Amino acid sequence: MKDLFSPYTIKGLELKNRVVMPPMCQYSVDKKDGVATEWHYTHYVSRAVGGAGLIIIEMTDVEPDGRISDLDLGLWSDEQIPALKRIVDACHSYGAKVGIQIAHAGRKAEDAEVPVAPSAIAFDENSKQPRALTTEEVKGLVEKFRTAVARAVKAGFDAIEIHGAHGYLIHQFHSPLTNKREDEYGKDLTLFGREIIQAAKGEMPEDMPLLMRISAKEYVEGGYGILESTAFAKEYQRAGVDMFDISSGGEGPIAAWGRPGTHAAYQVPLARAIKEALDIPVMAVGRLDDPILANAVIGNEEADLVAVGREMLRSPYWTLEAASKLRKETAIPKQYTTGF
Ligand SMILES: Cc1cc2nc3c(=O)[nH]c(=O)nc-3n(C[C@H](O)[C@H](O)[C@H](O)COP(=O)(O)O)c2cc1C
Repeated sequence: MKDLFSPYTIKGLELKNRVVMPPMCQYSVDKKDGVATEWHYTHYVSRAVGGAGLIIIEMTDVEPDGRISDLDLGLWSDEQIPALKRIVDACHSYGAKVGIQIAHAGRKAEDAEVPVAPSAIAFDENSKQPRALTTEEVKGLVEKFRTAVARAVKAGFDAIEIHGAHGYLIHQFHSPLTNKREDEYGKDLTLFGREIIQAAKGEMPEDMPLLMRISAKEYVEGGYGILESTAFAKEYQRAGVDMFDISSGGEGPIAAWGRPGTHAAYQVPLARAIKEALDIPVMAVGRLDDPILANAVIGNEEADLVAVGREMLRSPYWTLEAASKLRKETAIPKQYTTGF
């Protein structure tokens, strides 16, 4: 029987349990230089002390104008490597493995003077008007993803996650609502994502898993659903994705029917659908705060890993507390044993 505290292995990545801290932007870079700060160090290392098996560092962008805000992390320069490496090394010393989410915000880059996008369509009436990328620029961005991944490998990360969700650039390319291009990247909506996957794989050690976060469902009027996302996920799987991290939404103004995230485990049915259709490992996320529920998602084989976001912001030691509640063995730092 699998449970939240069963070890998990995917390729060369060996996790002590199934608990993941998902990527969560901290907007805490000091000098707009994309370099991780003491805040990031304390924030991530606390969750390693708190027992999470895998920590995925927040959305980290491939170029300055790919950031949601100028306070986001970046990996467009070698100077950004050491501060991340320091975090990775410290998390490793507490038994956690560390991944990083590599991204570009596209039309959702709020501080870019003119954000870029597949097509010149704004997110909503309050957002900046983006300009459409030229074909050459699209190819250039694939290369920027490649070099960012190469830097992440140098920093010692154990896994790479490509951000293909939440209405950011890769999502903008595979959504028919935001990609109206007439070139090869418009005729084939997953081409941009697939080229990024292949570029990333080219820089990663053979045994390092590549994760991809996707929005399995859109919440705008006329948005895609699970049938379409299953189809494009299959293409990404063929291109080299080893595991999907299943989220939803973020692409534009939410339709009246679509308000997401109201229920516990609201995205688990989407994760399960992708897992079954593609026969691929998946991570579930979204209101899985209750350890009994998170444990059931693993036990019922709806997902292979469970990510706990906002609850882990409130409670860095969520994993240790979950083990205690579920009466499972886990390594508790010796300094804290009396607390458990
Ligand atoms: C403060 C904050 C920042 C976030 N930043 C990111 C991010 O960088 N990348 C991403 O894919 N999701 C991001 N998310 C979404 C979370 O990873 C997670 O999917 C979401 O919060 C739902 O999980 P939860 O109910 O456990 O919080 C963020 C969420 C929060 C609350």
